[in-house]
Amino acid sequence: MLSKKVLVSGLLLSVSGLTFANQSCDDTALHEDMSMLKTEMKSLAFDVKKENFTSADERIDTIISVLKEAREETPYLFEEKGLSGDKLAARQADYQSVIDDTIAAFMALDGALEAEDSSKAKTMLGEIGNLRKKGHRAFKSDC
Ligand code: HEM
Repeated sequence: MLSKKVLVSGLLLSVSGLTFANQSCDDTALHEDMSMLKTEMKSLAFDVKKENFTSADERIDTIISVLKEAREETPYLFEEKGLSGDKLAARQADYQSVIDDTIAAFMALDGALEAEDSSKAKTMLGEIGNLRKKGHRAFKSDC
């Protein structure tokens, strides 16, 4: 009887431990930056649709500064994998290079909107979507 209780409480503990791990992976500064990115991108799509180019321009500036902040964070996946030293430095450099491509894509989008070149703007939005996929596939933990 006692051993059953011990088993159950052990199970509960491990489940709550898992839950706690999930929370901590949602609780990173990078996660916060990413959520902000998502919100700003939704508003950006709305601004572009309404042809509110001044607001779109300001939003892209905000997005770029959030990406610059995100560039200095370390993906939770690297911590989960226990990376350190040269391995960590190499993976962090890969991560930063995809963030840099994303910043460049937003700058090109900004230029396209300034020029009111909607075809180029669409291309850049597609490119940004691809970079997001690439970044998430390579650097986002499944937790
Ligand atoms: C450009 C548009 C992007 C948007 C809107 C975006 C949005 C998000 C969102 C909403 C999350 C939270 C988890 C989820 O709901 O899946 C997230 C997580 C994450 N994103 Fe992005 N993302 C973008 C681009 C990128 C890029 C380019 C990279 C990498 C180079 C990246 C790396 C990550 C990582 C590593 C996480 C997990 C957070 C952590 O490790 O702490 N994201 N992203």
